[in-house]
Amino acid sequence: MSDYIIKHNELTAEEFIHMWESVWGEGPSFEQTKLAMNNTLFRVSIFDGDKIVAMARVIGDMGLCYYIKDVVVLPEYQGKGIGRMLIDELLKFINEHGVPDTNIFVELCAMPDKIPFYEKFGFSANEAQRLRIMYHVD
Ligand SMILES: CC(C)(COP(=O)(O)OP(=O)(O)OC[C@H]1O[C@@H](n2cnc3c(N)ncnc32)[C@H](O)[C@@H]1OP(=O)(O)O)[C@@H](O)C(=O)NCCC(=O)NCCS
Repeated sequence: MSDYIIKHNELTAEEFIHMWESVWGEGPSFEQTKLAMNNTLFRVSIFDGDKIVAMARVIGDMGLCYYIKDVVVLPEYQGKGIGRMLIDELLKFINEHGVPDTNIFVELCAMPDKIPFYEKFGFSANEAQRLRIMYHVD
């Protein structure tokens, strides 16, 4: 475990797309992803030597909204505690940057089979449903 290298705010658009495609199929466009990386509050990536094996990020406004997105561990590296390292890094960032001595909801969206993973960190589901639209930008 100690051999893994944790990097803050170095995740590139190319790495993001590579990691995305390792688990979810065809990734988003480079242009959209580059903009997303530039506007992300906190990016964490984990390396085994010079190979990226995990990524995650936090988006939000630093005050009232912290939202966890795109938590991915390469399939062959899953089940080794790397996902836990990612979430620990994200929560540490929020603890270091949130308004001291206040409570804030940290939110995310998870498929049902991933909920038990997040429950390990204290996350719980409420009755809200995720609504979305594939919106075309002219
Ligand atoms: C979900 C994911 C990030 C977990 O990463 P991981 O490196 O395999 O997780 P870890 O090895 O750090 O596991 C941490 C703990 O969660 C548990 N856990 C991990 N995935 C779990 C699952 N799907 N269901 C139940 N428990 C799970 C582990 O058993 C471990 O428990 P322990 O600490 O009590 O031993 C990883 O499976 C992944 O990248 N999946 C594909 C992408 C994805 O779906 N991401 C989530 C988007 S919402």
